[in-house]
Amino acid sequence: MNILILGGGGREHTFAWKIAQSDKVKQLFIAPGNAGTAKTKLASGAEATNVNISATDFDAVKALVLEKQIDMVVVGPEDPLVKGIHDYFLNDEQLRGVAVIGPQKEAARLEGSKEFAKEFMSRHSIPTAAYRSFTAAELKEGQAFLETLQAPYVLKADGLAAGKGVLILQDLEEAKAELKNMLVEAKFGEASAKVVIEEFLSGIELSCFVITDGENYLTLPMAKDYKRIGEGDTGLNTGGMGAVSPVPFADEEFVRKIEDRIVKPTVSGFRKDQLSYKGFVFIGLIKVGDDPYVIEYNVRMGDPETEVVLPRVKNDLVELFEAVHKGTLNTVNLEVDHKAATTVMAVSGGYPEAYEKGKEITGIDSVEKSLVFHAGTALDGDKVLTSGGRVIAVTSYGEDFREALRQSYESMSKLNFDKMYYRKDIGFDL
Ligand code: AMP
Ligand code: GLY
Repeated sequence: MNILILGGGGREHTFAWKIAQSDKVKQLFIAPGNAGTAKTKLASGAEATNVNISATDFDAVKALVLEKQIDMVVVGPEDPLVKGIHDYFLNDEQLRGVAVIGPQKEAARLEGSKEFAKEFMSRHSIPTAAYRSFTAAELKEGQAFLETLQAPYVLKADGLAAGKGVLILQDLEEAKAELKNMLVEAKFGEASAKVVIEEFLSGIELSCFVITDGENYLTLPMAKDYKRIGEGDTGLNTGGMGAVSPVPFADEEFVRKIEDRIVKPTVSGFRKDQLSYKGFVFIGLIKVGDDPYVIEYNVRMGDPETEVVLPRVKNDLVELFEAVHKGTLNTVNLEVDHKAATTVMAVSGGYPEAYEKGKEITGIDSVEKSLVFHAGTALDGDKVLTSGGRVIAVTSYGEDFREALRQSYESMSKLNFDKMYYRKDIGFDL
C-alpha cells in the first residue's frame, strides 16, 4: 500500500523509519518531512519521498493523495487533527476510503480545548486536578477564585498555544494580573479567551500512550520526557530535550492504576460521548504519592517520546494501523522489547528563543550503535543542514536506561554543528 505521513519532525522520522520496515508498504511519502525522512529506505529497497506541502493545507493534501493513490494517512502533529483533517477526508467522496490515523475534529478538542478535556474527565470520573474556567466577562469571579486557592497558581489558556499557554505562579497578585493579561489583553491570542484555573499537583510526571480504534485499545510503553532547556530541569520549556522508556518508577501496580482509573474510562468515555477516535492518545500524567492524575490529553504521539516508544514496539506498525482503521485492534497482540530506550535531542544554540539555521551537521554516518532521528534538518545537495530549533535525536537501546543513555551520549559526541547544544543529564531524576 501507499502511505503518507504528515509532519516533519523527529516523531515523523521515527514513524517513517518504523513504517519503512513493513513489507506492506509500496510507496512512502512524508509531507513536508526532513532530511532524515528523505533518506529513509523501504524494505523493498525503494526510497521514501518528501513532498513540500504543509500538513494543514488540506486541499494540497487531497491532490497528493489522489495523485499518488495513497491508501493511508498517518497524522503526526495536532494542528491538522484539531482543524479536522479526518472529517475532511470522510466528507469527501474521493477520499472517504482512505485510512486516516488520528481522531476526528470533535475528539481532537481533547487537546484543542483544556476546558473540553477537563469536562470530559469530570464526566467520566478520571482523576485530575480540581478546576474552574473563566471568560473575560468573568474576570472578577476568576480573581476571587484565585483568592480561595493556595500558591502555586496554575493558569491554562483554553486553546492551542504551542505549548506555552500554561503559567505556574507563586504570587497571588501576579496570578491575578496574569489572569487579566490572558483574558483581557489576549496574552495568548484567541487561545486565552477562556482560562482554566486549576489546583497545583505536586509529583513526578510521565506519559502514557494508547492506540485505539474507538472501541479497543492497546497501551504502548510508558515514557518520560524532559521539557526544560537547562540541566536539572531549569530554564524555559521546550518541545522536549530527551526521553526514556520504560519509566523506572512506573511499576506494575502503578501501571495497573493508570490502566484501570485512566485508560479504560478514557476509551469508554469516547464511546459514551460518541467521539470518533482512531489514533493515538497521549496522556500526560503526574504521580502524586502513589496515585496517577491526568495533567493533559494530546491527540497524537509525543515528540521526543515517539523516538523511544516506537523503537520498543516489535509489531509491524502498518498492521497496527490497519487494525485501527478496521476496528480490529482486539485481534492484535502488542509485542514490546524488554530493552530500555533513551533519546537525547540536540538543539540549535539559543533555542527555545532565537537561533540560527542552515548550519552543516557532520558525523551522522559515523554513528553506528544508535538510531539517529532527524527533527529540524534539511538536505542541501549531499549536506544535511539545521533547519529548526530541535535538530536531531539520538536513540539507543540498553539493558536499563543508564546503559542506553551512555550509548546515546557516546553516539552524540560524534555529531557536530555550529552552536549545537544538548542536555547531559537526561534521566537525572530517576
Ligand atoms: P500542560 O500544557 O497542561 O501539559 O501543562 C504544561 C506543564 O505544566 C505540565 O507538563 C506540568 O509540568 C505543568 N502543570 C500543568 N498542570 C499542572 C498542575 N495542575 N499542577 C502542577 N503542574 C502542572
Ligand atoms: N514532548 C511533549 C509533547 O510532544 O507534547
